Amino acid sequence: MGGGFYISKFVGVVGIVFGAGAVATVIALAVVYSQEVAKNEALSPTNGGSTIKPPVTTPGGSTVKPQITTPVIPTTAPSNEPWDKYRLPDTLKPDHYNLTLWPRLTVNAQDLYIFTGNSYVVFQCVKETDLILIHSNKLNYTKWGDDHLAKLSALGSTPAPTIKKSWIQPTTQFLVLELNGKLAVGESYQLDTVFVGELADDLGGFYRSVYTEEGEEKVVATTQMQPTDARKAFPCFDEPAMKAIFHITLLHPPMTVALSNGMEHGQYSPVEVTEVGPKGPVTVWRTSFDKTKKMSTYLLAFIVSDYDYINSTNDNVLIRIYARKKAIADGQGEYALNKTGPILKFFEKYYNATYPLPKSDQIALPDFNAGAMENWGLITYRETALLYDPKMSSNSNKERIATIIAHELAHMWFGNLVTLRWWNDLWLNEGFASYVEYLGANEAEPDWNIKDLIVLGDVHRVFAVDALASSHPLSSREEDIQKPEQISELFDAISYSKVRSSVFSTYLNTFAYDNTVYTDLWDHLQMAVNSTGTSLPTGQTVHSIMNRWVLQMGFPVVTINTTTGLINQQHFLLDPSTAGSVPPSDFKYEWIVPIRWMNTGLVQQQIWLEDKTGILFQLSTELNWWMMLLTLQGEYMKDSQFICIFSLSRAKYINTTLALRTTKYLRSEREYMPWESALDNLDFFYLMFDRSEIYGIMQTYLKYQIEPLFKHFGNITGNWTNVPTGHMDQYNQVNAIRVACSTGIEECQTLTKGWYSQWMKDPANNPIHPNLRTTVYCSAIAAGGAAEWEFGWDQFQAATIAIEADKLRSALACTKQPWLLNKYLEYTLDANKIRKQDATSTIVYIASNVVGQSLAWDFMRDRWNYIFTQYGGGSFSFSNLINGVTKRFSTEFELKQLKQFQADNSEVGFGSGTLAVSQSIERTTANIKWVAENKDSVQTWFTTEVPKE
Ligand code: BES
Ligand code: ZN
Repeated sequence: MGGGFYISKFVGVVGIVFGAGAVATVIALAVVYSQEVAKNEALSPTNGGSTIKPPVTTPGGSTVKPQITTPVIPTTAPSNEPWDKYRLPDTLKPDHYNLTLWPRLTVNAQDLYIFTGNSYVVFQCVKETDLILIHSNKLNYTKWGDDHLAKLSALGSTPAPTIKKSWIQPTTQFLVLELNGKLAVGESYQLDTVFVGELADDLGGFYRSVYTEEGEEKVVATTQMQPTDARKAFPCFDEPAMKAIFHITLLHPPMTVALSNGMEHGQYSPVEVTEVGPKGPVTVWRTSFDKTKKMSTYLLAFIVSDYDYINSTNDNVLIRIYARKKAIADGQGEYALNKTGPILKFFEKYYNATYPLPKSDQIALPDFNAGAMENWGLITYRETALLYDPKMSSNSNKERIATIIAHELAHMWFGNLVTLRWWNDLWLNEGFASYVEYLGANEAEPDWNIKDLIVLGDVHRVFAVDALASSHPLSSREEDIQKPEQISELFDAISYSKVRSSVFSTYLNTFAYDNTVYTDLWDHLQMAVNSTGTSLPTGQTVHSIMNRWVLQMGFPVVTINTTTGLINQQHFLLDPSTAGSVPPSDFKYEWIVPIRWMNTGLVQQQIWLEDKTGILFQLSTELNWWMMLLTLQGEYMKDSQFICIFSLSRAKYINTTLALRTTKYLRSEREYMPWESALDNLDFFYLMFDRSEIYGIMQTYLKYQIEPLFKHFGNITGNWTNVPTGHMDQYNQVNAIRVACSTGIEECQTLTKGWYSQWMKDPANNPIHPNLRTTVYCSAIAAGGAAEWEFGWDQFQAATIAIEADKLRSALACTKQPWLLNKYLEYTLDANKIRKQDATSTIVYIASNVVGQSLAWDFMRDRWNYIFTQYGGGSFSFSNLINGVTKRFSTEFELKQLKQFQADNSEVGFGSGTLAVSQSIERTTANIKWVAENKDSVQTWFTTEVPKE
């Protein structure tokens, strides 16, 4: 490889984390997560009324007919009482639960969907106490004979103390029982409850999802417990370390399917349950499930639906895919079914541990907050993340399905079998799964070279956030993460760690069915280092190296003086002038960085940079940026280098026009990776300048650069009639069309408009290939008017697969008509038009359109209170919304508005978007500066580079 010498050194020079990734096996990855705790009103005590009382049998055998009661709301101000703290005391440990839930799939007399339940938990007293605290949120309890909200019995010989007082503590989400005497250490007790909750459409806890099939509205009762919503389904010790065994029973309408973590027992056996209500007695089915393994509450799942499934068996594990009947009949579950077995097998080998359950169910839900959730044995998905249809799905849809399945299956061991003790270590759980998902997906689709996408996908994303002074370290202290909204915020921008696989089997075996803290993993890594003789710098351990990466935020930029060989590291900040505002770190923002390069004899060299400065002895050849550029323009370009160059230019390590020069060779580039990376980086220039005079020349420049690529794809696809064979080529074909059309290549616009109008004339025959739909729809709707938009909207509503609906949903945001965009914005808050799960992402799509930017910002500000209270639980990420709507901000005026927005809503709050607001302010400040410093030179550069006609 002729260029290898330069490139390798080049990586060393700008090796922000790539060197580190290779040796210390640390790569910062980013995945954006978020969940906002539901803000729905608590059930009013009369709702649900007396019509929904289930008969309850007490452990003693006598049947109690409890009365529905009002929760006791404390009148006292917050104090230091145990029930005012968010964390459970260390006095009690659950052993097992026995839980029966009965979701109603039709409304009651008060027009509410509800569920009823009765449950008992057997727990052990591990420290003497006269207080029982158990999590409970938005549940209404039936009082027992003694007028209390629960019934306590002793399982040992000493009788249980009687209950002095029982009430609900809504802020900290506890059911509190004060006792007249102490619980005895070592004794086991049983706590019985009977309760009712709302089966709301709020996407958290036990909730309802709705779809229409053959003109009939159908309701699915389903759950999303992570992180803190199991307590919304039944009273439980709702912390990840409170592992227990669960015996679950579901009551459900005849002919419906009930699923949970365990395998259902035998055949369904209908059981008569008498409901004293206006409709008289009803027959329901009772399904009981095998008791679970010892597990955390956040991994529980209960689902009642009218679904169908397909199945296969893989090494004695039953694999089932559940979905709407129509989706199953159309074969949309086949791809997931075919890939699950091989991926499971791969992870069994990778972890050197067999899958611990007899079955693996995966189910697609029409309403689902996240993309997917790793409930143990019953993984839940958005429909777009599980269902595949070769006629409708693009290669990118397919890739997402393969990777998301791999991600969730990876959690079955890392996360479910071995669980982090508390949410502060969530980064390790999610970071790990986010890394190995590439390995699992690679197994499923070995021809795709999916692993190459890690840098493009995740590293780039984390750079953007972790280079801000308002970033945060990977690891938080346990005591700093208490409230549900603090836990949710952790799912936002998280950097992740990659670790070698050889240590997993000892780690997993040691801690199976138990909990860990992240340092337990370092211990096992150290054991692996010791046994393999891997060399670490003298005096350093896995702990000492890794702690610098996880306990301090950000990452280093390493510079090498190519004449002297001196190396030096600095905290990489997009705006270096914010350095003073970054809280000091114990490690002084120094990292232990392995640096690898190739010497002139093409022999790989490695040293560790342990301090602020060091020296690379072997580096003798003079090398500078210009030479590197020559190499790059010559023939070979790696995606990571683009990322580095542009990040470095934004942080002023190199000048902007130097970074822009690297795009000059694109006219002769045909590969996806460099194109994608360059386009990602140019995106920032578009965001900063697409409302300014520079826009015109930028467009001309990019139009000139993309032209040959567009022609190339026209040629190799027989004038757009075939699909390129390679996965990455298919992606790059989309880039070619997207950029060619958006920069105004007429041939492209004619092509996309032609396809779309052909479809409009004959809606039953869509002539557009699924790979191209998102971009073709967008370009045609952007070029068109109301007719094109309305047609798209009708097709969106009529779509029978969510993957198609999603393509239209994003394209509808492409119109240039402000009135259509405003109408569309209104639709986002009407759950009958846009599902709650899709509201915030639709607003972000609109904001990404330069015409929609300010409309979306006005809309979001105006409706913040409503969005926050109604959609808190319904949007995957509030931080995505805030970051998405403000990403173009680059003027003093916008900064002022943003600060005003922060001040105006301090009362309402931002929940899990709190950090995003401060990050947006910081990003805007950096953008203002960047524009001021670069606008002229960027303009001059483009002006000189634009081909003169
Ligand atoms: N455990 C998460 C899902 C989750 C996120 C639940 C936030 C509650 C709050 C799951 O394992 C996950 O990471 N899902 C990702 C998909 C993955 C491929 C990155 C998601 O939902 O997007
Ligand atoms: Zn995950």
